Amino acid sequence: MARYTEDQIEQVRSANDIVEVIGASVRLKRSGSGYVGLCPFHNEKSPSFSVSPSRQMYKCFGCGAGGNVITFVMEYENYSFPEAMEYLAERVGISLPKKELSMQQKREENLRMTLVEINAKAARYYYATLKSPQGRLGYEYLRGRELTDETILRFGLGYAGQGGGELYRYLKKEGYDDAVLKETGLFKMDERGVYDKFWNRVMFPIMDANNRVIGFGGRVMGDAKPKYLNSPETKIFDKSRNLFGLNYAKQGKRKSFILCEGYMDVIALHQAGFTGAVASLGTAFTEQQANLLRRYTDEVLLTYDSDGAGVKAALRAIPILRRNGITGRVVHMDPYKDPDEFIKALGKDEFAKRIEEAENSFFFEISVLRKNYDIRDPEQRTKFIHEMARKLLVFGDKVQRDSYLEALSAKYTIPQDDLRRLVIRYSGMEPEGYREAMEEKRQESRRQKANKEPEGMGYTYQLFLSWLVDKPGLFAQVRKIIQVDDYCEEPYHRVAEMLYGQLEQGTPEPAKIINCFEDVTQQNAVAKMFQTTFDAEMNLRDQEKAINELALRIKEHSIEQKIRSLEDVNGLQSLIEQKKALQTPGKLHISLKDG
Ligand code: CTP
Ligand code: MN
Repeated sequence: MARYTEDQIEQVRSANDIVEVIGASVRLKRSGSGYVGLCPFHNEKSPSFSVSPSRQMYKCFGCGAGGNVITFVMEYENYSFPEAMEYLAERVGISLPKKELSMQQKREENLRMTLVEINAKAARYYYATLKSPQGRLGYEYLRGRELTDETILRFGLGYAGQGGGELYRYLKKEGYDDAVLKETGLFKMDERGVYDKFWNRVMFPIMDANNRVIGFGGRVMGDAKPKYLNSPETKIFDKSRNLFGLNYAKQGKRKSFILCEGYMDVIALHQAGFTGAVASLGTAFTEQQANLLRRYTDEVLLTYDSDGAGVKAALRAIPILRRNGITGRVVHMDPYKDPDEFIKALGKDEFAKRIEEAENSFFFEISVLRKNYDIRDPEQRTKFIHEMARKLLVFGDKVQRDSYLEALSAKYTIPQDDLRRLVIRYSGMEPEGYREAMEEKRQESRRQKANKEPEGMGYTYQLFLSWLVDKPGLFAQVRKIIQVDDYCEEPYHRVAEMLYGQLEQGTPEPAKIINCFEDVTQQNAVAKMFQTTFDAEMNLRDQEKAINELALRIKEHSIEQKIRSLEDVNGLQSLIEQKKALQTPGKLHISLKDG
């Protein structure tokens, strides 16, 4: 554990009831021995998110999220493990003495802090240069693009000089080592020497949501290529997890955010008063970015460039937004290329009008589709309508789907009943059963996915451990047959070790086991270990058979592993015999009647 002892973590976890914590942000309804609600981690209309008070865990059948109360806070608030700990400790009034970091962790943390410090110094240096006589070219360029001094200051815009080594010399004078400077991504280093990566460019500092400079974009002032040069990914800069402008956009309550492509778009929009603008910076919009936005808004206006690439980017972003519970609307900027050019040409009032007229993202998808067909041709028109019907299947909610169906039939003058019949045909179901059918399909694909997983022994261990948590009464039998060391893979071995320890004391506490993993992905994986269940319909005899098959597989695998790593021949004979003995009827048997 990094900063906290196991006891501290467990104290914080057990003092925070999972139903209370999740209930504060998700509407939960009682259902059987637990609670269900709409999953906050993906967009859904019928609840597949459940919280178990007895296990103190949550899980979503839809998107696979799951874990204990700490995992939830990490996922929901986008917190790191220590941040989630602090939040939960404060919630129940526990004060946490900080545990010393290990040497390695200290070094990493120090490095990250130093990188942030250097980036901030570089940003100040570029800004000062811009404002000095050496920066005249850059300053005039930005003023020429109609940015005010106030905007330049707010976004910390700067200029990288022409020499190609000024920033390096400055930072050396400030006392930084080459080794650290290398990690900033701001320099090119080879046998001949060290050079500034950025020179003769106007500089755009990229800040994270907490106003820390984590990287830069630099633009040439003419038509040279590449137009923009960006910091590479570093220990503090992960492109896919940041949005340019978010530090400002997240301030203040607003109905929607504006998502655009470029630095200049964000800056021009903010200057014109549209302060909810952020940019994904030329890379494709990511799931993590959507997740970041979801914390602040549920509506995003897409102002991607109006060229072909921009349309493609919008088409890719829309489903990502939809999956994350965000409504997308598309702002049309024709005949201009991007928001910056639009505002420069027509002004902010016209832009505000375009926002008012923003197109529903589903209609946008359909109208792009429409361009592939010549609908005066009956064949093509038929194909278009069929494709439209298929697209309507993205709406699992019948009321919502019907509203779209009605709107589309009016818009493209297609008789409603015809369209509806097609939709029903594609969904393969009667209209009343539609929603259930979609749910069934999803379940099915989940089952297939789960069945496809058994790479190595993972799935076997998962099933067996989950089952053991469900039936702790059988532990006495199990421990005689399968010992901790029979789980030959991590993290299963580690999880089994902890679970066996708990079972020896009495009750299994899977939520506590999750404490030992800091990374959300690991926590999800471990949580999954305790969610893999048998079909509820299975009768006792079949269950018993399945359990014993699992146990046999685990034991056999374990012996095979031992054989493989064996060094002297004497042991081999004994292992081979052990393996043979497994086949003897009655030798290895767990009876469910005792559970
Ligand atoms: N981009 C990049 N590298 C390039 C070109 C573009 O990283 N060689 C990124 C930049 O973040 C840029 C965004 O993609 O802001 C959009 O690119 P583009 O539309 O070509 O530029 P504009 O934002 O319109 O830039 P400007 O208005 O300064 O010409
Ligand atoms: Mn532009």
